[in-house]
Amino acid sequence: MKKIMIHEMPKHLGETVKLGAWLANKRSSGKIAFLQLRDGSGFVQGVVVKADVAEEIFTKAKSLTQETSMYVVGEVTKDERSSFGFELQVKDIEVIHEAVDFPITPKEHGTEFLMDNRHLWLRSRKQHAIMKIRNEVIRATYEFFNENGFAKVDPPILTGSAPEGTSELFQTKYFDEDAYLSQSGQLYMEAAAMALGKVFSFGPTFRAEKSKTRRHLIEFWMIEPEMAFTEFEENLEVQEQYVSYVVQSVLKNCKLELERLDRDVTKLEHIQAPFPRISYDDAITFLHEKGFEDIQWGDDFGAPHETAIAEHYDKPVFITHYPIGIKPFYMQPHPERDDVVLCADLIAPEGYGEIIGGSERIHDYDLLKQRLSEHELDEKAYAWYLELRKQGSVPHSGFGLGLERTVAWISGAEHVREAIPFPRLLNRLYP
Ligand code: 4AD
Ligand code: MG
Repeated sequence: MKKIMIHEMPKHLGETVKLGAWLANKRSSGKIAFLQLRDGSGFVQGVVVKADVAEEIFTKAKSLTQETSMYVVGEVTKDERSSFGFELQVKDIEVIHEAVDFPITPKEHGTEFLMDNRHLWLRSRKQHAIMKIRNEVIRATYEFFNENGFAKVDPPILTGSAPEGTSELFQTKYFDEDAYLSQSGQLYMEAAAMALGKVFSFGPTFRAEKSKTRRHLIEFWMIEPEMAFTEFEENLEVQEQYVSYVVQSVLKNCKLELERLDRDVTKLEHIQAPFPRISYDDAITFLHEKGFEDIQWGDDFGAPHETAIAEHYDKPVFITHYPIGIKPFYMQPHPERDDVVLCADLIAPEGYGEIIGGSERIHDYDLLKQRLSEHELDEKAYAWYLELRKQGSVPHSGFGLGLERTVAWISGAEHVREAIPFPRLLNRLYP
């Protein structure tokens, strides 16, 4: 008999098949038992009718505990009431391992309890759906960049220098030297863009941020494209096309998951390039009009400011040209102004905050050297980065998209901790 996975059931209508599955949930009466089965590829209802199976099978079905693993044999039939569209008429059950007191029952649990049990919580329907959406975002990312002529390049994780400021670094020993866990692969991606033209990376990044918000992780994954011969505005166009592509791919390929999460897909359907742009200057004026009196030109935006701006639009919005004083050393100044830089943050709708930070990079040697010294960064650690500006330097731009914030937004998760399998948070290194 053919062993298949739940997602393959539609191809086997009318056949008797074998599934390896866990019991997610169960309902039964004297005559019939409904087994909610899951195998990682999906969820399906198994129906055990007392009159149709051996007495012993029906008794077994009724006594199955949550998360017991088993092989189930049954016939694939249609089930118009479920969104999956199919169910299994169970004929035989072979228990592999009986689970005892699975801690996450279908009732409500507190967040800390769920986080302590993250290794098991991942099996729940909602967490399963979010992980599948994360997977689709990653898949669509590779597809988008490969189709658009980008090569994937992997920057190092152990590094000697800091691109995004020194306050949030995880320091470690590299034999006798000091080293840091990467907080961004950008500087290496700039070198790679000079070799390969258009590149992108996808990897973990680390920030010792003491922030305890629904947008901050200590370890998060970033997609960092970098493009030679590319200026500020072209960079924004790639970003809006990329984000639209990812959202449309999830809508197309994760219908069941979005439904299981009760995601309002009408809010995602119109996420199509182009996205609106607002300058930092205009954003400050807008915030003043909205009653945020305290914020002044030169201040960075907090979550409430970003949310107020984002609420004004129904697509992600670029906030462009931030003050030079609140951005990293490497950003290219505005050609006609010395107080703002050629950068943009992309703010997601619905309060999910900044999902992308990007900019045109300084390509002039002297200016970069000056900016390093203004930021009191050790020139020796950045010698190789500076040297890129001596060997056929070109205008170039890039950006970093935070995977977990993007996944949280698309799936409508309350907190970024649900958008990564094993979140690293303030005070949480386990499981
Ligand atoms: O804006 P950031 O700090 O930009 C950079 O690191 C650039 N070097 C990227 C580049 O141009 N190559 O971070 C980029 C994105 C943010 O927009 C946000 O989505 C995410 O990374 N991010 C975080 N996500 C979760 N937890 C945190 N603590 C994050 N910090 C940044
Ligand atoms: Mg940023």
